[in-house]
Amino acid sequence: MADTPALAVAVFVSGRGSNVQAIQDKIDRAELNARIVLMISSSAKAGALEIARRHHIPAFTLTADQYVDEAAYSQALLHLLEDHAVRLIVLAGYLKKVPVQIVQSYRHRMINIHPALLPSFGGQGLYGRHVHEAVLNYGCKVSGATVHLVDFEYDTGQPLLQRCVPVQEEDTPETLAARVLAVEHEILPEAIRLFAENRIQVQEGRVRIRAERG
Ligand code: GRF
Repeated sequence: MADTPALAVAVFVSGRGSNVQAIQDKIDRAELNARIVLMISSSAKAGALEIARRHHIPAFTLTADQYVDEAAYSQALLHLLEDHAVRLIVLAGYLKKVPVQIVQSYRHRMINIHPALLPSFGGQGLYGRHVHEAVLNYGCKVSGATVHLVDFEYDTGQPLLQRCVPVQEEDTPETLAARVLAVEHEILPEAIRLFAENRIQVQEGRVRIRAERG
């Protein structure tokens, strides 16, 4: 692992940042050959910014409404990504749509974590508590988390990793969210590790994971 340079990762966040913390913990334990080189937050109040401060991660609060148009916003984002030599973008609880130009520039190099088993319970408006409420209202017996490539729509890119959790009779949105979050904290760093080990291949729109070298 020490021979390969650490994968330079940018995290995009809007909230508390527990997924960022899970990634950073794996890095600190030398279980993930990556480095969070940049954090983009859509909110100055995001708890994730505190994590960035603690770990000396350069962090910027950026939203489209600070710019004259989407092109100017995209340029600002692209400059930051290029200045920090970012190889992989990780949306970790990011509630804004990523500009088209960034999706194009980071095609197959941008992933998102969603707290359900896509393609169920995804799309605009299905985030946070709303997802778990919808799963419970439908009466699902399992839920889970999905890491997927980012394309031009919300939650529609190809899945890379998925993991199930049981739904229990007495679950509330909060208890289910906590069970799902625990697996998010496993599969998001795991997905980054696959990129760091160059094991992700996208062929005819399908994600293939190459076997680990023995
Ligand atoms: C997670 O549940 C993630 O799946 C969703 O937003 C939440 C972010 O949590 N996209 P955190 O900010 O990482 O704690």
